[in-house]
Amino acid sequence: MRIGILTSGGDCPGINATIRGVSKAAINHYGMEVLGIHSGFQGLLTKDVEPMTEKSLSGLLNLGGTILGTSREKPFKKGGIMGDVNKPALILENIRELGLDCVVTIGGNGTQKTAAKLAGIGVNVVSVPKTIDNDIWGTDFSFGFDSAVTIATDAIDRLHSTASSHKRVMVIEVMGHKAGWIALYSGMAGGGDVILLPEIPYDIHRIGETILNRLKKGKPYSIVVVAEGIQTDGKKRAAEYIAQEIEYETGIETRETVLGYIQRGGSPTSFDRNLSTRMGGHAAELIATGQFGRMVTLQGNEITSAPLSEVAGKLKLVTEDNDLVIQGRRMGICFG
Ligand code: F6P
Repeated sequence: MRIGILTSGGDCPGINATIRGVSKAAINHYGMEVLGIHSGFQGLLTKDVEPMTEKSLSGLLNLGGTILGTSREKPFKKGGIMGDVNKPALILENIRELGLDCVVTIGGNGTQKTAAKLAGIGVNVVSVPKTIDNDIWGTDFSFGFDSAVTIATDAIDRLHSTASSHKRVMVIEVMGHKAGWIALYSGMAGGGDVILLPEIPYDIHRIGETILNRLKKGKPYSIVVVAEGIQTDGKKRAAEYIAQEIEYETGIETRETVLGYIQRGGSPTSFDRNLSTRMGGHAAELIATGQFGRMVTLQGNEITSAPLSEVAGKLKLVTEDNDLVIQGRRMGICFG
């Protein structure tokens, strides 16, 4: 069998480990041929591929980013027609010309949606969930998330130094798109006093009270962790907006930090390396056993899979009954 692998959407630590996991299992165990497809779905439109060899697969386990490159190309957008090009038809033709028996798609929600549509027009697809946001329905975790949380937690730890030294409120904005998973997990791991998620509405007066109560109890500084997707005035970034509001509410000097793309960079954690390896290997197994149209998933500690038709494009959001939210509240952490 000859398979193609593409990586699509935002980069994150663990993508290269996943490429390695799929490819090494496919080549060494199942005797398959593997083609790397460059720049996500764009590479399927332009037949921009390279054979994956032992050499090209070496040194990937701990390498950030994606050696194949990525894009946010959505070939089915606006019906897939661009000028006189019918993108889905061109992809079908290119897959046939490249002699691909299956396409492995590594990506987030947008990628899963495109993968499901490709499966719907007859392409053999197996997909692997990838995102630092951890907002993909059907899998307990996606690789990239643990690495981003580790980076964000280290940043929050460092903010404690300057907050306590200057007796300031420090606000840090983390990524997560429309979900609050990174803010929740890094906020709890980093000892945040206030953690704001898009999924839980907040009242700035209550936040101010929390901070002033800490002051009264002899804690003259606070750490506020905000997800980028929270409600704001629609003009400022989350961190800038919340910092300004807190300083106004409390009169305490408040400063903001936007962690941004640092959360997506560098080497994957050991957890993400092993999750990537496990998911990649399972993708190869699905192909070898002819199980197409499925997304690899983590359920508890088991690697399994689900039909793309059931999970593609569905958002997994934080709920009030999440045990980290419940435990945080019981400890006096303010979620807004
Ligand atoms: O989906 C991953 C992510 O990093 C989100 O957390 C963030 O909102 C978005 O990508 C940023 O997109 P871009 O890389 O296109 O700026």
